[in-house]
Amino acid sequence: MNTTIPTCDALLDAIDALRRERKAVILAHYYQEPAIQDLADFIGDSLQLARAARDTDAEVILFCGVHFMAETAKILNPDRIVLVPDMKAGCSLADSCPADQLAAYKASHPDHLVVSYINCTAATKALSDVICTSSNAVKVIEAMPKDRPILFAPDRNLGAYLIRTTGRQMDLWPGTCIVHETFSERALLDLKLRHPDAKVVAHPECEPDILAYADFVGSTSALLSYTRTSPATTFIVATEPGIIHQMEKARPGGVYLPLPGTGEHCACNECPFMRLNTLEKIYLALRDLQPRLEMDEATRKAALVPIERMMAISA
Ligand code: 13P
Ligand code: SF4
Repeated sequence: MNTTIPTCDALLDAIDALRRERKAVILAHYYQEPAIQDLADFIGDSLQLARAARDTDAEVILFCGVHFMAETAKILNPDRIVLVPDMKAGCSLADSCPADQLAAYKASHPDHLVVSYINCTAATKALSDVICTSSNAVKVIEAMPKDRPILFAPDRNLGAYLIRTTGRQMDLWPGTCIVHETFSERALLDLKLRHPDAKVVAHPECEPDILAYADFVGSTSALLSYTRTSPATTFIVATEPGIIHQMEKARPGGVYLPLPGTGEHCACNECPFMRLNTLEKIYLALRDLQPRLEMDEATRKAALVPIERMMAISA
């Protein structure tokens, strides 16, 4: 086998040829680097990607996102090969809620319904009553029976936002996203001073001190549609800056200012897990059909139940 990795344009051509040969579909989240977004067959937020994975007839799903997203694709599509360019592409939210800790919580709170954000492992999903994403979370919470207490896991910021929005009291698991918790209120105020007409758009994973300034709060796809249709032309973007690539493509005249993190000269507003995926790793994954996501059938079946409930609620 030829083990040389082609470079630049040749790499893109080679990925294209392999994608056809493997009958593969490339799904990518908005937080992927622009070159990966541009080669993907489908780009979307977590819910759109889950639906695309469910509906594809491709033989191979190459998931350019993070591990829990690829797991969701496998749960929904067990007969397809699901590839992940880098198996180490995790998620701090998913890491914050190990299944054994959730099982212990459930044992001591037997009345509680568990609503889990899709950013969790398959094993955690398997213990959940219903899953939600940031684009359908309000709908999911509003669909929960009023007479049952709720645990919302694992994102305490999204959970607190849902309490404020729906008025529904919930226990919150103490997880956060390492990207969205790092946004600096001081940097936000500085950008607002320099761009007084700018609208602030924020993902609900942000801390409440950032969300308090937001003109619009929503999932990545909702932020994109807001910036595309808003009468404003300048936007301060309080989420992972990968989304700005699509904002610029959807509305080239707009000005999109990424909100920096608290570190002075770091790229800590970029998701280090998402950014593990590269063109080279995509090429190798399609060439070798590895790394491949595998899952035991009992976990998959149990995790499918709360995902299907979510799909029914947000159909
Ligand atoms: P979306 O569902 O809004 O794309 O969010 C996914 C995510 O991981 C945000 O950090
Ligand atoms: Fe997880 Fe945050 Fe990265 Fe999204 S941005 S995948 S929540 S670590």
